Amino acid sequence: KHDVLTTIVVFGASGDLAKKKTYPALFHLFQQGLLPKRTRIIGYARTQMDRDKFVDRVTSFFKTDLSNADVQQFLALCAYVSGKYDKDEDFQRLRGEIDANEMQMGKSDEQERVHIYYLALPPSVFVSVGEQIRNNVYDASCTNRVVIEKPFGHDLQSSRLLSKAIGSLFAEDEIYRIDHYLGKEMVKNILALRFANVFYEAVWNRHYIANVQITFKEPFGTEGRGGYFDEFGIIRDVMQNHLLQVLSIVAMHPPKSLRSEDIRDRKTEVLRRILPIQLEDTLLGQYVGTRDGTKLGYKDDDTVPKDSITPTFAQCVLHVDNERWRGVPWVMKAGKALDEAKMTIRIQFKDMPNAVFPNLARNELVIQVSPKESVYIKTIVKEPGLSTNLAMSELDLSYHKRYQDVKIPDAYATLILDVLNGDHSNFVRSDELDEAWRIFTPLLHQIDSDQVVPLPYEYGSRGPKGVDEFATERAGYKLSSR
Ligand code: BG6
Repeated sequence: KHDVLTTIVVFGASGDLAKKKTYPALFHLFQQGLLPKRTRIIGYARTQMDRDKFVDRVTSFFKTDLSNADVQQFLALCAYVSGKYDKDEDFQRLRGEIDANEMQMGKSDEQERVHIYYLALPPSVFVSVGEQIRNNVYDASCTNRVVIEKPFGHDLQSSRLLSKAIGSLFAEDEIYRIDHYLGKEMVKNILALRFANVFYEAVWNRHYIANVQITFKEPFGTEGRGGYFDEFGIIRDVMQNHLLQVLSIVAMHPPKSLRSEDIRDRKTEVLRRILPIQLEDTLLGQYVGTRDGTKLGYKDDDTVPKDSITPTFAQCVLHVDNERWRGVPWVMKAGKALDEAKMTIRIQFKDMPNAVFPNLARNELVIQVSPKESVYIKTIVKEPGLSTNLAMSELDLSYHKRYQDVKIPDAYATLILDVLNGDHSNFVRSDELDEAWRIFTPLLHQIDSDQVVPLPYEYGSRGPKGVDEFATERAGYKLSSR
C-alpha cells in the first residue's frame, strides 16, 4: 500500500473543516510516516490565494513550530488551485494539476494509483462538485475514493434524493461517508471490548442489562454557528448521526468477521429493528442566557431568528425490537451549553438476583468517549478495613494513566488513514444512513408541524427541568452513588 501513487484533493481547502481537521490530520499522518511515500495533496476552493496565504490557512491549526523541517516537507507535498464549484474549465485545470503531479511522482502504466476527493464542503455544492469530478477529473484507470461529510440531507426524503444523486455519479464502494465519531478511540474500542473479552458478551442482553444511556454534553452554545445550526437542531446535528452510530455498535450482533461489509451489515440490521421515536418519548430544550448576563441565550445569537424554536437539547428513549434487546430502554441525551463537556455510554445492569446482600446498587459499565478516554465498571466491594459494609467502587481503566505514552489521534487522522487503506468499516453505508433517517424523520416532522416549543434551560446548567426524572421514570434508571 505504501507504494501507491496517491493524490488527495481537498475541496473547500480554504474553509473551516479543512483548516481545523483535514490538513492537521493529513499532517499528523505525514509525521507518523503513514502517508504513502509518493503523495500529493491538492487544495481546491473558490478563494484566490497566493502560496503564503494558503500556507497560513492550512497550517493555522498545526500544533507544532511551523519552522520545523517536517512542516516544510509536508508543505512541499501541497499545492493549491482556485476555481468555481461548477465550471468545467476550472475542473479541467485541476485535472491538469493532478496529471502534472503524477508525472512528477513517476506515473507509469503499471503503477497503482489512487485519487481521493475529500469534499470539505457545504452540502449545497456536493452534487455539483460530484458532477464536475465525474465529468472532468475522474480517471477510470485508477482507484477513486470520494469522502463526504454530513449533513446528508435533513430528513429521509432529502437524504434519499442526495444518495441517489451521489449514487449516480460514484459506486457505493467509492464513497466514504464520514461520521467522525466512528474515528474516536473509545468508539472504535467497543468492538474489541465486546468481542475480544469473554465476560461482556455473556451479559450483553435484556436478561442482564436494565438500560443504556448515551450522553453527549457540550459546555458551549452555537456561538457563531447559529446560522447553520438553526436549520438543523440538535437531533439532526448529533443524535441522528453520532449517537445513533454509537448505539448501533453497542447493540449489534457479533459480525461474521471484521470485514467492513460484515460490520456494516450487522449495524444496519440492528438499526432496522429500532422503532421510530415518539414525540411522547422526547424532551426538548433550548438554552437561555445566564441570569448574571455573562452568557447569552441561543436566541441572543445574531445569526439565529428571534422566534426560533430549534432545540439545542434533546433527550429521547429508543427501543430495539429484537430478541436481544426487547424491553431495554436506550436513552439518548444531547445538548449544547450544558454544565460540562462529556460523551459517555453508560450500561446499567439489572439488580442482582437472589441477593445475599439486600438493596444493592446496580453495576454499571461506563465507556467514556471524551474528554478523558476511560472504561470503568462500577463494582461493589467490601468497604476496606474493619468495616463489613459494602461500598461502590470502580474497576477503572483510564487511558491517561494506563497508556501515558500514547497520543490518542484525532478522529480525522484515523479516518483518513482508513480511506488511504480502502477500509470502509468506520464509514456509514447508504442503507445505514437511510435507516438512521427512518428512525428520526417522523419525530422531526411532527416537531415541525406541531411547532413544538422546547423547554428553556439556563446556559451552563444540566438541561431543562425534568431531565433527570426523565431517565429514572421513563427508562428505569436507578441512581447509585459513585
Ligand atoms: C459535530 C457537530 O458533528 O460534532 C457539532 O456538528 C459538535 O455541533 C461536534 O460540536 C462534536 O464533535 P466532538 O468531536 O467535538 O465531540
